[in-house]
Amino acid sequence: MRVVAIANQKGGVGKTTTAVNLAAAVAALDKRVLLIDLDPQGNASTGLGADKGRWPNVYHLLLGEVDLAAALQGCGALSLLAASPDLAALEVELAGQEGRELRLRDALRGAEDWDYVFIDCPPSLGLLTLNALVAADRVMIPMQCEYFALEGLTQLLDTLRRVRAQLHPGLEVDGLLRTMFDARNRLSTEVSGELERHFPERMYRVIVPRNVRLAEAPSFGQPAIHYDPQCAGADAYRQLAQEFLQREQRL
Ligand SMILES: Nc1ncnc2c1ncn2[C@@H]1O[C@H](COP(=O)(O)OP(=O)(O)O)[C@@H](O)[C@H]1O
Ligand SMILES: [Mg+2]
Repeated sequence: MRVVAIANQKGGVGKTTTAVNLAAAVAALDKRVLLIDLDPQGNASTGLGADKGRWPNVYHLLLGEVDLAAALQGCGALSLLAASPDLAALEVELAGQEGRELRLRDALRGAEDWDYVFIDCPPSLGLLTLNALVAADRVMIPMQCEYFALEGLTQLLDTLRRVRAQLHPGLEVDGLLRTMFDARNRLSTEVSGELERHFPERMYRVIVPRNVRLAEAPSFGQPAIHYDPQCAGADAYRQLAQEFLQREQRL
């Protein structure tokens, strides 16, 4: 089982869109996939047509009130651990408790039912994201190629270094993914080139274009690869799934 956190402390960079569509595209290649929605906003859960806030969910799992099997729901070809708005209070509720960063890792321990587990992180570097990073083998970082992207990336890489030093030495960067890319925008092309220069081995070759179908699909409770299999966004995420699995085989 391989656990991949999809993280970036910046909001609106395509984490959830990537989590939902990559998970669905990997599942479509006959892999057993679990998607964990760790964002109190629950966008990945609603994007899959699931009931966010259904009892029990990932919040109750992290509190230790239920076990993994109880918190799961089936969602087409995927398994889902849905989020709940209650997650927003978890940081306060677990304040001062020993091992509060380890709760997701411990909850997943011994689970063998999946080939890949993807975790959709909230837009912060707080306790929820920390739980995801500790539970993960790798981190995928979706980025929009814009002016402040590199600064945000430096901060995120610092956090990963700290997590490695203090909590989880085995944590690795899976890759950087360019999302919502508009090749006509000169700044995007420049930032993209800058990323290639700084992180030649880390970049995913697949670049996800700006595509309105990707933004529409969640309101139909479907990944874009099912909502409109022909659209450019679905195409990009299917290719990303291939590239992701190729990387896995190399490692
Ligand atoms: N490639 C894309 N093209 C067009 N819209 C996109 C694309 N990726 C994401 N979006 C839209 O942009 C917004 C932010 O994306 P989202 O995946 O929710 O980011 P995050 O989870 O990082 O906050 C959402 O409304 C989403 O539907
Ligand atoms: Mg999100």
